Amino acid sequence: MKERMDENIIEIVDLDKHNRKQAHAIGKAAIYQHWSMFSFLIANRLDGFIIRVAMCDGEVAGYAAMVDLSSGWRIGSIAVAETHRNKGIGTQLIEDLADIARSRGAAFLLLEVRESSSAARHLYSKMGFVEEKIVPRYYKTSAEIKRRTGKAREDAIVMRMALRGKN
Ligand SMILES: CC(C)(COP(=O)(O)OP(=O)(O)OC[C@H]1O[C@@H](n2cnc3c(N)ncnc32)[C@H](O)[C@@H]1OP(=O)(O)O)[C@@H](O)C(=O)NCCC(=O)NCCS
Repeated sequence: MKERMDENIIEIVDLDKHNRKQAHAIGKAAIYQHWSMFSFLIANRLDGFIIRVAMCDGEVAGYAAMVDLSSGWRIGSIAVAETHRNKGIGTQLIEDLADIARSRGAAFLLLEVRESSSAARHLYSKMGFVEEKIVPRYYKTSAEIKRRTGKAREDAIVMRMALRGKN
């Protein structure tokens, strides 16, 4: 794994009233058809839903959310602000979620990722997620992806990581 940030201090905390506005704005800027602020806040109040926020030198740098599937957890959303990418923050957010899920006895983490999300796919594979299945044309594409690929929809790749040697 690459060197963690030397000069910046990363802390991962729960979503709260001090960081939620910035965390939501990071998701909105990074993810096409992102959750509304209302869904973000409601999700954070539900049992079996966890949203964690990465703070870098006191600034909100990213967040990750997961929902309890009873035997495992599904990562529903993760985003890091463009200015903070490729510094290991996404890796730390997933490690944090994995630690929480493991401490609650979960056997796996599951997620879906867009075919076009190269950085996210690289990150998940590097962390030990393996491709389980492809759901064809699952997502509507953004205007930018549509221009680049000519496709109005794109596949979802379902990936899973075992947490305790089970899956
Ligand atoms: C995916 C995301 C959360 C990763 O956050 P991050 O803090 O940059 O993650 P890290 O720094 O821990 O790791 C990023 C890795 O992706 C690699 N990467 C960056 N851009 C890439 C690209 N276009 N293609 C392939 N790999 C890429 C980096 O080199 C790094 O890998 P390395 O550690 O082997 O060098 C961030 O890119 C993001 O917010 N993307 C937009 C939202 C999104 O796609 N969310 C996922 C939805 S499922």
